[in-house]
Amino acid sequence: MSELHWRPMRPGDVDGVVRVAAVAFPDHFEARACFAERLALFPNGCFVLASPVEVKGYLIAYPWPFGAIPPLNSLLGGLPEPRDSLYLHDLALHPDARGQGHARPAVERLVDAMRAIGVRRIALVSVNDTVPFWRGMGFTPVAGDPAIVRKLESYGGNSHYMIRDLVAPGGAGWQRA
Ligand SMILES: CC(C)(COP(=O)(O)OP(=O)(O)OC[C@H]1O[C@@H](n2cnc3c(N)ncnc32)[C@H](O)[C@@H]1OP(=O)(O)O)[C@@H](O)C(=O)NCCC(=O)NCCS
Repeated sequence: MSELHWRPMRPGDVDGVVRVAAVAFPDHFEARACFAERLALFPNGCFVLASPVEVKGYLIAYPWPFGAIPPLNSLLGGLPEPRDSLYLHDLALHPDARGQGHARPAVERLVDAMRAIGVRRIALVSVNDTVPFWRGMGFTPVAGDPAIVRKLESYGGNSHYMIRDLVAPGGAGWQRA
């Protein structure tokens, strides 16, 4: 049986998270301080896939206005009000831990926890050709908004803004791809 389990992220996990991020997102460097800040600001949205000795994956999400995309490798400085929309900043597994069914439990754990506190939708930017993966996780690409297209430029060519409604699918009023 796998020794790896999802659990809440702790400050002592941040170095391990940074190591996984470096392997999973080689083209999107983010400083250690960015990860540490997200954990400090919104620990309820930060999880790690870990054995008793090492971190093999992580998920980071935090409240962020719907339709806005935080710039890469930047401190947030604080969180917005209201907190009814969440931005799923990263889900990443070390290559050794992929293909073993670890991704879906992390997403569902986040969804359950956020629904319980009244979050209405989760948004993310799909990179690394992960649109089909995220569709399988219940997310849908949002199309047709020029402001979003501009903000995606820093994420490189093949990136897509996607959302999952936690309340009523289709209720957000955005045009879907
Ligand atoms: C994205 C990532 C977290 C997925 O983890 P994974 O272990 O490879 O995913 P799994 O193999 O457990 O697949 C999870 C589910 O998605 C499905 N899936 C995976 N890749 C898919 C694809 N390309 N198209 C459609 N479905 C896909 C699987 O069939 C599985 O479905 P199931 O739960 O019904 O069996 C992992 O590949 C990763 O860390 N990649 C690098 C970082 C990254 O790109 N993160 C996302 C950035 S937005």
